[in-house]
Amino acid sequence: MHDRAPSASTFDLAEVDRLLTTTRAVRKQLDLERPVPPSVIEECLQLAVQAPNATNAQSWRWLVVSDPGLRRKVGDVYGEVLRPISLQLREQRRAAGDADGLRHSDSVLYLVDHLGDVPVLVIPCLAAQIGPETGLADLTGMFGSIYPAVWSFQLALRSRGLGSAFTTAHLLRAAEVARILGIPDGYVQTCLIPVAYTKRQDFSPAPRRPVAEVTVWDRWESNNAAPGGRAAAPGARGAARLPASGSGRARRYAGSTSTRRGSTPPRVPVSTC
Ligand SMILES: Cc1cc2nc3c(=O)[nH]c(=O)nc-3n(C[C@H](O)[C@H](O)[C@H](O)COP(=O)(O)O)c2cc1C
Repeated sequence: MHDRAPSASTFDLAEVDRLLTTTRAVRKQLDLERPVPPSVIEECLQLAVQAPNATNAQSWRWLVVSDPGLRRKVGDVYGEVLRPISLQLREQRRAAGDADGLRHSDSVLYLVDHLGDVPVLVIPCLAAQIGPETGLADLTGMFGSIYPAVWSFQLALRSRGLGSAFTTAHLLRAAEVARILGIPDGYVQTCLIPVAYTKRQDFSPAPRRPVAEVTVWDRWESNNAAPGGRAAAPGARGAARLPASGSGRARRYAGSTSTRRGSTPPRVPVSTC
C-alpha cells in the first residue's frame, strides 16, 4: 500500500482500503446459479440506510426483484435499450484499437444478455417527482439522497462475497419498467443494481486518473478552469498514488500519456454506461 497519512483510526485500514479499491462493476463474474438469500439483501440494506440523505427524510424505497418472470421482463427491456448502444460503442472502440474499452463493452454486453438471469435486481426508488421546473439543487438533493446509500449497499455486498454493478440504462424506458413492477406515480427510479454472489473474489483496483491531476487546492486558476484547459492545478499537491497491490490496468493508466498534466479532462457523457 502507498505511504499513509497520519491516522488516529481504530479501523483495519488495509482491509477498509481493499474494500474501497476493489469494489468493481461486476458483470461476467456474477454467479447466476447460486441463490441469494433474502437475509443477505436485508443485512446489506440495513447498512446502506445509514448513508447521508437530505434532511434525513429517508424518502427511499428499495424495490428488490427476485421473481424470475419479473426479472426476465426487466432484463428484456434493459437489453432492448442497451444492446444497440453497446454494439455501436464496441465497434467504435474496435476501430480505435481501444483494448480497455473493448473489454468494458464485452462486459456490458454480457450483462445485457444475462440481466434477467441475475438472482436479484434492486431498484432504489425515491419519493420525488422530476418536471421541467426541477433545478440543479433539486436534482442533486434527490440523487444525492440515495446514491451514497447505493454505494454503501454495493460495498456491503462486496464485503460479504457478492458483486453488483451500478446501472442506469433501463431508465431510458423507466415508465415501462414501472408498469412491469407496479411502481406508483410519485416514485423515481434512480438506478438498477444486479446482485449475485461472485465466481471469484480477487478483484483489483481500477484504472483512474491520478488524484494530483484532478485535484485543485484553494483557488481554481483561470488556466485550468474549464474542460479543454489545463487539467492539473498549478497548486495541485502530492504525487499520484496508486495502491502498491494495483493491477496492471491501474498501473498502465497512471503512466498513460492521455493522463499527463495538461491533458483535456473528459466530459461525462450524457448517457453513460
Ligand atoms: C451513472 C452511471 C451509470 C452507469 N450505467 C451502467 C449501465 O447502464 N450498465 C452497466 O453495465 N454499467 C453501468 N455503469 C457502470 C460503469 O460502466 C462502471 O462503473 C465503469 O465502467 C467503471 O468500472 P468500475 O466501477 O469497475 O471501475 C454505470 C456507472 C455509472 C456511475
